[in-house]
Amino acid sequence: MNSRRTFFKQISGAALAAGAAPVFAWAFPDKTESTISLPGEDGMIVRSSRFVDLETPVEYLNSWLTPVPHFFVRNHMHEPSELDPTTWKLSIGGEVEKPLTLSLSQLQKLETHSVVNTLECAGNGRGFHRPQVPGIQWGKGAVSTAKFTGPCLRDVLHQAGLKSSGKHVMFRGLDEIPGKVPPFVRSIPIEKALDSDTLIATHMNGAPLTKHHGLPARALVPGWIGAASCKWLTEIKVLDSEFVGNFMNPGYRLPNQPVKPGDVVKPEDTHVVTSLNVKSVISGPIDGSTLRPGKISVHGAAWAGEADVAKVEVSTDGGTSWKPATLGKEQSRYAWRLWQHEFAAKAGEYSVLSRATDTQGRVQPESPVWNPSGYLFNAIDQVKIHVS
Ligand code: MTE
Repeated sequence: MNSRRTFFKQISGAALAAGAAPVFAWAFPDKTESTISLPGEDGMIVRSSRFVDLETPVEYLNSWLTPVPHFFVRNHMHEPSELDPTTWKLSIGGEVEKPLTLSLSQLQKLETHSVVNTLECAGNGRGFHRPQVPGIQWGKGAVSTAKFTGPCLRDVLHQAGLKSSGKHVMFRGLDEIPGKVPPFVRSIPIEKALDSDTLIATHMNGAPLTKHHGLPARALVPGWIGAASCKWLTEIKVLDSEFVGNFMNPGYRLPNQPVKPGDVVKPEDTHVVTSLNVKSVISGPIDGSTLRPGKISVHGAAWAGEADVAKVEVSTDGGTSWKPATLGKEQSRYAWRLWQHEFAAKAGEYSVLSRATDTQGRVQPESPVWNPSGYLFNAIDQVKIHVS
């Protein structure tokens, strides 16, 4: 335990230095450092302490529901310093007949629905792209799974009398904005907003949301990149077209066509990132570990956004041959599948790989699909182990 803590502290220090590069040039360091205490003692990797950005160590990606203290945290700005759920209000306006303001107790009187969702940051794995791209240099753990509960967004939109002119739904959070930085405001298309699984979540794994995860209410847009799920929700506005703002453009966009690593892409040749890719990661054995000869269990998690995981394959010989892994029993539309594969190991060096395929026929690629913002990294995962 002690050596693991030391190991994480070392990683955290290195990561802090590496992760300090802002995604956008306007995100200059300000002088008012956040005073939020970081749960570093839980072993989380601190990718940035200026705004709280915590990565889940890959070996924690081994339970169907991630315990909340181990659920990754991604903040573009400061968390709200004063947030009182008893006085908090949520306004619903724009293209609606009867604009509404709801208190938390009014929101909680509405019928609730639960969705087990794997939330992944679009930038997860950015640190593996070459050439390197600016932004938080996430490793494998800007992803976690929880059961989110709250009213369906569509019930609230219908209560407000959604007009047929409503084409997008915009979310605004209560982040504290440092200096002249644009606020974290984004929108989702009306079809996704009206999906019965899109929630105004107030609970995570059966308990009220914690501050890191959006207390008292957040949007939950299942199967989509984490950025769609706005935290500390204060305003929902129905728009007649997509929201125009930094976190829609130039932020969170992918090239329309594949590009060569290092290419410059014009904004007009890009589109907004929405659903997640097919991906698997190995949560054990840990990369670089030494194990005894005999049966070795390779295990991990695999997810595919709005699609389902069809299979996970494991190679223990660097990709020459592949064997099917056994998928875990726990299953829900937008949640990852845990998987496991056992093999008999003799003394030697092993390169162990995992590769997921989804029900849309997408397969994890051998090499990363590079893009200028380093989004949706999903190359085949690999660990090297020594058996002696
Ligand atoms: N909502 C607000 N208001 N501010 C933010 O910075 N970050 C987004 C999203 N919602 C963000 C936000 C991003 S980029 C991600 S990946 C998810 O929150 C992360 O959710 P989590 O911190 O609960 O894991």
